[in-house]
Amino acid sequence: MTSQPDQATRTAPKSEPLPGGVRHVGVIMDGNGRWAQARGLSRTEGHRHGLDTLRKLIRHTVSVGLEYLTIYSFSSENWSRPETEVSFLMSLLRRFVQRDLSEIHQANVRIRVIGDRDDLESGIRQLLVDAEDLTRNNTGMTLVVAFNYGSRNEITRAVRALAEQVADGRLSPSDIDAQSIDDNLDTAGIPDPDLIIRTSGEMRLSNFLMWQAAYSEFYFCQCHWPDFDEAAFDQALLDYAGRERRFGGLKAKAL
Ligand code: IPE
Ligand code: IPE
Ligand code: MG
Repeated sequence: MTSQPDQATRTAPKSEPLPGGVRHVGVIMDGNGRWAQARGLSRTEGHRHGLDTLRKLIRHTVSVGLEYLTIYSFSSENWSRPETEVSFLMSLLRRFVQRDLSEIHQANVRIRVIGDRDDLESGIRQLLVDAEDLTRNNTGMTLVVAFNYGSRNEITRAVRALAEQVADGRLSPSDIDAQSIDDNLDTAGIPDPDLIIRTSGEMRLSNFLMWQAAYSEFYFCQCHWPDFDEAAFDQALLDYAGRERRFGGLKAKAL
């Protein structure tokens, strides 16, 4: 991968570029359960507070002019949690879409949902489709919601789609390249994340954007997700601005 030419986007050019020219930030919102447990609260209380943090972050990223924000909301492995927690997380998504969609739409935000929709209850699936449809023509920030998302599942589905095209004679195996794989991922058309933030001190991807994060910068912070705020986000951007991305090449001054 070379340093990508700036792709044309629907977003109007911003008067002030963000620190380091960052366009796309992915966030692994982790630590809700530990935040709650440390306060003698139930894990679900942590998720409730986590949703408040998310609302604030969306408002903030819109106000600073970020182009793409991807949030990891529910992983394909999170089904292994107790049924009560899983159903609470499903109801939280429902609440988020029902209560926040109009504000998000007003803010000219476009919603894209990534992840496997097949296992989702039909009511939730419809809510996600409706959110995408309502905001489809918005031209501000794109909010990418990773729900029932896992990279291995996403890549598996992309490989299957390519195999079907080959079997139908629509594609030759020698035409399969990084671009055609990109085009068959849920994130097709979305630039790779420049920066991935994970809260709560864990230093792993947990199946988040593994293909897309090939050259992303990582920022880990100790605070649990409900304590993450605008200042913490700005700090992550400042840290990013000090990084040198090389994409396998050499430092500019070494050329
Ligand atoms: C992140 O917080 C939210 C989701 C995974 C949905 P956790 O629920 O993972 O919180 P910890 O990591 O157990 O503290
Ligand atoms: C990743 O966090 C998933 C989300 C934030 C939605 P997890 O808490 O599920 O990840 P692990 O289990 O600690 O790796
Ligand atoms: Mg966790």
